[in-house]
Amino acid sequence: MMNNTKFHLHCRKCGADIPGFKEWFANNQKCPHCGGTYVDVKYHRDYSELKKLIDTKEHVENVWHYFDFLPLIDKKNEISHTEGAIPVDRWEFMEKFAKKYYNLDITVRAYRNDLNQGTGTFKDVAGAVTASVLKENGVKDYCVASTGNIANAFAHYFAEAGINLGVFVPEDTLKINEAEINTYGQGLFRVKGDYAMAKKVAADYSAKYGILISGGNTDPMRVEAKKTMVFEWLRQMGKLPSVYIQAVSGGTGPIAIAKGCADLEGLGYDNRLPRFIMVQPSGCTPMVEGYAKAKAAGFPEGWQNDYPCYENPKTSVPILATGKPGTFPIVASLVKESGGDFVAFDEQYLADMAKLVAYETTVRIGPAAAVCVGGFFESLKNGLLKNGDDVLINLGEGSRRAPAFVESIIYTTKHVASVDECEKFDRSKFEPMLWDKILKIYNL
Ligand SMILES: Cc1ncc(COP(=O)(O)O)c(C=O)c1O
Ligand SMILES: [Zn+2]
Repeated sequence: MMNNTKFHLHCRKCGADIPGFKEWFANNQKCPHCGGTYVDVKYHRDYSELKKLIDTKEHVENVWHYFDFLPLIDKKNEISHTEGAIPVDRWEFMEKFAKKYYNLDITVRAYRNDLNQGTGTFKDVAGAVTASVLKENGVKDYCVASTGNIANAFAHYFAEAGINLGVFVPEDTLKINEAEINTYGQGLFRVKGDYAMAKKVAADYSAKYGILISGGNTDPMRVEAKKTMVFEWLRQMGKLPSVYIQAVSGGTGPIAIAKGCADLEGLGYDNRLPRFIMVQPSGCTPMVEGYAKAKAAGFPEGWQNDYPCYENPKTSVPILATGKPGTFPIVASLVKESGGDFVAFDEQYLADMAKLVAYETTVRIGPAAAVCVGGFFESLKNGLLKNGDDVLINLGEGSRRAPAFVESIIYTTKHVASVDECEKFDRSKFEPMLWDKILKIYNL
């Protein structure tokens, strides 16, 4: 492998500089000086080069457009499936709704992670960058505890990088999630017990065989990958949104956006954090509750460490089922700094969100993305949006990984025996029906 003169890792806890991933992996992904596990990647580059990449008029192929500001040394190790080069769509139907019912003039856009060619979720950029960095560093084995989209993206990209991936899932994991990981020929360990148990067995597996385990929501490979979202919004929109809405589980998204904004420092852009509105499904809301409590008490000393933890949270969106959000202190501090908030969305209405979006835009969203869209309506209800806001809804996933959810959307079917029972079909009659449901949910 070439010498790394491109970047180093900077320990957030003690300020030590770690030369690169070779040393980071050799020290079991910990700072050799203080044992800290949260590091920032700093590039030995003139950051004005980043401005050129953002201001380009050329076609952007994939996340590696930002190679100079990603922690890979040799381009030949890049693995990619056009992930990260996805559009930001304008959603005027949401703008009209905000105007009509809340008298707000806002712009609403959606970031189309469903169009990522890897596995169709916003974990694909993380999969591509992590697989490439591991490949470059000669890593042959890796493991992760997850039932969600990150395991699926890793399974896909690591297979291509020739890396063995062991995925540890809790006993009650859905068959479809199990099947997806299996299809890439990666290892699936169904652990007797809950998610915490799956994490424990994964950690034991990592220790037993000396195999690297995913560093979770602050993992520098994941954070660096996902920070490119910020560069893409700037490239496509010419500015950053003033409000960012995302379904949150562990919070890699907001953590990575903050890193992306930090990388823009001094380049002449308005790089303030958008107001983070983080959405959780009603069955798993520890961050929402922790933040609401802190806010009500005026953010007393140590509020970041006071949040509820749930064993086996009961939510219909398993990928958002982080019942013990160890990253709350980091994520909630970012939300506060940004002037944002946390909101919950009632899960019984997920299919209504997906129906409406698909009717109005033909975009087919998955359940976690439906939580996110629900967060837009919650934000309006809670008065979190202001005139002039530029709202970006990060659609984290398409419907492809959730066939059962797609089935819950069925609503136009009529069972007939002959044409006598068939009224002439008129698509437009669904529009008032779908919107009436929204108006009913929000008492409008
Ligand atoms: C589609 C989707 N949305 C949202 C999330 C939450 O992401 P995070 O909390 O890591 O930012 C995930 C993964 O956990 C996801 O797959
Ligand atoms: Zn340190």
